[in-house]
Amino acid sequence: MRIAVISGSPKGRDSATLRYVRFLQLNYPQADFQVEHVAQQIGKLEKNKAFFDSLIDRIKEADAVLWATPVYYFVVPSQLKRFIELVFERNKSAAFRDKPAASLTTSIHFFDHTAVRYLHAVSEDLGMHYSGSYTAEMNDLRRPREKRRLLSFGKIMLACFEKGSAASYCRTYPPSPAMSFVYRPEEPGVKIDPAGKKIVIVADLENPSANLAGMVKHFMVSFAEQPELINLADKDITLGCRGCLTCGAENRCFYDKRDSFREVFEGSVKKADILIIAGEIRDRFLSARLKRFMDRSFYMNHVPYFGGKQVGLIIAGPLGHNANIRDILESYIRLHDGNLSGTVTDEASSSKDIDALLDKLAADTIFLSGEGYLAPPSFPLVGGRKVFRDFIAG
Ligand SMILES: Cc1cc2nc3c(=O)[nH]c(=O)nc-3n(C[C@H](O)[C@H](O)[C@H](O)COP(=O)(O)O)c2cc1C
Repeated sequence: MRIAVISGSPKGRDSATLRYVRFLQLNYPQADFQVEHVAQQIGKLEKNKAFFDSLIDRIKEADAVLWATPVYYFVVPSQLKRFIELVFERNKSAAFRDKPAASLTTSIHFFDHTAVRYLHAVSEDLGMHYSGSYTAEMNDLRRPREKRRLLSFGKIMLACFEKGSAASYCRTYPPSPAMSFVYRPEEPGVKIDPAGKKIVIVADLENPSANLAGMVKHFMVSFAEQPELINLADKDITLGCRGCLTCGAENRCFYDKRDSFREVFEGSVKKADILIIAGEIRDRFLSARLKRFMDRSFYMNHVPYFGGKQVGLIIAGPLGHNANIRDILESYIRLHDGNLSGTVTDEASSSKDIDALLDKLAADTIFLSGEGYLAPPSFPLVGGRKVFRDFIAG
């Protein structure tokens, strides 16, 4: 049996996750685990069509697919996210269709469940039969009990893969509905006084005529003074986090001098009183470009960086059908000591309704910022902090 292992680690052969795959290969020599370093090779996969197509051909030839990836910021590394986007953009999902699939993640168990949900939903969107996940802690291979557990998983996974599509249950994540509504923004009637607050919008506005661009435009002009707009599509932040942990010692990223990420993050994002994140849903999360921005903020290590800011969300796409994305974004904001001031999507039924929701978001955000309000913690914040505490304490 040939298994296409889609590696999501930017570290390529040095990936800790791939050690788990090698362990399975050693113990189950009857299967052929063929590793594809998609995250490490994402630049070439994006630019060189023949290189991308030959990878797709190998996936087509495989009997099953195993996603083997670290968890990065609640999901997978931006490089793997981009590969998945390319598969959909280039209409290559047929290469995956009807294959059995599974996922193997390594992490410190901090929101690894949301990463698994992402991979599960993407597998189903690609027409695969998802048979299960293995959520390893990054040091599990040092623990005899965990090695035995991994061996069992390997046996179960291979048995499912042998059965092929017969091994799957019904879909867990129904397809997201296609959205055809075209939003046409109007000028807001009354302008809101920003009350001296610095408002920064981090957006991925690739298409200036898309709903998201219109929503951001309406939101911006609803203030008497224009907020600062950081359109990631126009920035030279093209390098994804390489997972090298150079940042561990002094919060300095290996790429600091190679692009403008640090300047944008330190100079605008951290100095804002109010932050708006504006993105479009692509497959089962926001764009890889926004994910790259999140991943690069890892240079702060585990220091919360929203420090009492109000954070609003402007989202284009079927958020109401993607509870996992909502969970991730809410937890991300809360774990960095921000307060979610509101969410507006283009799922409303008329442009007028969306205009009204954007006006409300603007007014609510200023009001909450004036109050300095931070909602009380609930499980993600309390539990998440304890996972970190235990990890750091060893
Ligand atoms: C940018 C970045 C983000 C991360 N985010 C998470 C996370 O959200 N949850 C978690 O448990 N671990 C997180 N980690 C830890 C990695 O998942 C973990 O170290 C993993 O085992 C690395 O695997 P690899 O060597 O195969 O790349 C993150 C690491 C990096 C570098």
